[in-house]
Amino acid sequence: MWRNTRSGWGLVSIALHWLSALAIVGLFALGWWMTDLGYYDGWYNLAPWWHRSVGVLLLVATLLRVVWRLVLPVPVARGPRLERIAAHLGHIGLYVLMLVVLVSGYLISTADGRGIDVFGWFEAPALISDLPNQATLAGTIHWYSALALIILAVGHALAALKHHLVDRNDVLLRMLDPTRSRRR
Ligand code: HEM
Ligand code: HEM
Repeated sequence: MWRNTRSGWGLVSIALHWLSALAIVGLFALGWWMTDLGYYDGWYNLAPWWHRSVGVLLLVATLLRVVWRLVLPVPVARGPRLERIAAHLGHIGLYVLMLVVLVSGYLISTADGRGIDVFGWFEAPALISDLPNQATLAGTIHWYSALALIILAVGHALAALKHHLVDRNDVLLRMLDPTRSRRR
């Protein structure tokens, strides 16, 4: 039920997948909106604080997700060979882009050497700071990788729907129902 097996995703992977998807869409919208706020807007400091706090939590969750993904088996891929290869490359692309967006966001925020306050619960330390042009460079990477991540995720969601509606296999259902991981 908790762990992945060859027949389905366990609860940990399913929860991480959907919470991450929700957080990513929310962070993208929030990031886009907050960079246009004026100095006298009440959200000027609050919105980036939320963005960074959720972002740091997502960064930690994503590192754990990658470890969990690497140590356990994964459900068998469905579809013809070319589609399986495309899906595999697409998933690697999603993981790489997630990490690039998260790390670049972290690097923007720690460029001046200060840590990141996460909801007032703890401070994420500034491990890398004062690189030449750090904030500007990381900001550019952050924007383009976030955009690429959203575009790839839309393609990924359409592919998942194709599995369900056209191929009528269990690919989408097993990302929704952890009890499928118990089936033989
Ligand atoms: C998958 C997760 C994330 C997504 C999708 C995302 C998305 C975005 C977007 C779309 C922007 C607006 C960029 C622009 O208009 O130039 C932005 C800005 C920003 N993000 Fe993120 N972000 C994520 C994670 C993070 C994390 C983890 C942090 C820091 C810990 C962070 C810190 C920032 C900061 C400081 C800005 C403002 C940059 C500026 O003013 O140029 N983000 N983000
Ligand atoms: C920002 C949004 C999303 C991201 C970043 C994302 C990321 C991922 C990643 C990286 C995997 C690969 C899991 C692995 O092999 O370790 C995956 C699997 C999956 N995703 Fe998403 N996802 C997102 C949204 C969605 C949406 C909206 C849907 C459905 C409409 C969806 C359906 C699925 C399904 C069905 C699988 C399992 C594929 C399989 O069992 O072979 N995802 N997702």
